[in-house]
Amino acid sequence: DFQLPLAGRTVTISAGGTREPLDPVRFLGNRSSGKQGVALAVAARNAGATVRLLAAHMEVPPPAGVEVVTVETALQLREAALAAAADSDVVIMSAAVADFRPAVVSDTKIKKRDDSADPVITLVRNPDILHELVEVRNAAGDEARQRLIVGFAAETGDSHGDVLAYAEAKLQRKGCDLLVVNHVGSDKVFGQDTNSVVILARSGSEPQEASGTKAEVSEAIINRIGFELNSVSP
Ligand code: C5P
Repeated sequence: DFQLPLAGRTVTISAGGTREPLDPVRFLGNRSSGKQGVALAVAARNAGATVRLLAAHMEVPPPAGVEVVTVETALQLREAALAAAADSDVVIMSAAVADFRPAVVSDTKIKKRDDSADPVITLVRNPDILHELVEVRNAAGDEARQRLIVGFAAETGDSHGDVLAYAEAKLQRKGCDLLVVNHVGSDKVFGQDTNSVVILARSGSEPQEASGTKAEVSEAIINRIGFELNSVSP
């Protein structure tokens, strides 16, 4: 019998970049396009999964055939992710989450006034959603333990070995099951036209390389997730 690798599975994917408001018209944001998350959503859908896309700001439209939950801030994404995780088999955190947000959000547009000092923006730390998902999962029962949590990391380093070492430390710190590592920077092998990633597993199996278009890399990641799920809970 032919079965798609994620048939019957629910996969939650966060994508895009959060925006942290300063006042009603201004925010702190980042350059995440959401393309990687959207490509993952397409690959998961094509692999037979029910897909829920937690969409922060994206430059590309969400794909057809997936449920979309729109969020703006890290705190909204956290709420949506914790709610969605409860009935998901897989959570993939591919969103670029702001590490900090303005401590105070002004109700009215911040004005420039010649008689006042230049404004100072105080930032406070946002929660690490990925880490929190892992803690909630680990505190829950056996069924929840079969849930798979996948993080992303963009690392810089002088060598492939350095990057793998940083990523390995991050994998242990965050406690997620898989960490998809992008080597960003001037390295010849990485950061070129095609996307190239290494998938690290907390189970300690060999790092797996995947490269190609974002669609091809996403298929490799989704296939790996299918393999992990099917080797634990068929
Ligand atoms: O620590 P770093 O930002 O490199 O980790 C990246 C991973 O952690 C990504 O999967 C990202 O979605 C997630 N993350 C998060 N909450 C944050 C910051 C990052 O879930 N506040």
